[in-house]
Amino acid sequence: MVIRSVVLWVHVLCGVMWVGTCASFLLAASAMTAESDEWREFALRAAPRINRINVVPALVVPMTGAGNLFSAALMRRTPFPPAFMGIVALKVVLFFFMGVMLAASFAAERSMRESFAESAEGGTAAARRLVRLYGTIATLGTIALGLGLWLAGT
Ligand code: HEM
Repeated sequence: MVIRSVVLWVHVLCGVMWVGTCASFLLAASAMTAESDEWREFALRAAPRINRINVVPALVVPMTGAGNLFSAALMRRTPFPPAFMGIVALKVVLFFFMGVMLAASFAAERSMRESFAESAEGGTAAARRLVRLYGTIATLGTIALGLGLWLAGT
C-alpha cells in the first residue's frame, strides 16, 4: 500500500515537473522582449537545462505508469472497465508524443546554439521552434494530468 502510494506520487510529481519546466520557460520568455539579447541569453541558458531535467520524467513516467497499472490490477477484484483502459491508452499516446517533442527539443537546442554562435539572428528560428515545442509539451502534459485525475476516479 505504501509502495503503491509512493509510485503514484512519483508518477504525478514527474508529470507535474515535465509540464512545469516547459510552462516556466514559456512564462519567463513571454515576459521578455521577443528576440532581444536578454531573450536570446535566456533561451541559450535555460533550454539545455530544461531538456536535461526533462529526461528524468521521460524515463520515470512510463515506469511508474506501468507500476500504477500493475498495482491497480492487483487491487481490483473485477476487470478494468473499458473507460479505464481507454484513458490509459490515450495517456500512453500523449506520453509518446511528449517524448518525440523532447527529442525534437534537443535537436532545436543544438541547432539554436550552433546558429547563435555564427550570428545573433541565426538561432532565432530554432529558439522560436523551442518555444512551440515546449508549448506543445505543456499542453499535452496538462491533458495527461487531467486524464490521470479522471483515471483515479474510474
Ligand atoms: C506511459 C504513460 C502512462 C501510463 C501507462 C500511465 C498510467 C497511469 C495509471 C494506471 C494511473 C492510475 C493509477 C490508479 O488509479 O491507481 C495513472 C494516474 C495518473 N497519471 Fe499516468 N500514466 C502515463 C502517463 C502520464 C503522464 C504523461 C502524466 C502527466 C503528465 C500522468 C499523470 C497522471 C496523474 C495526475 C494520475 C492521477 C494520480 C491520482 O491522483 O491518483 N500520467 N497513470
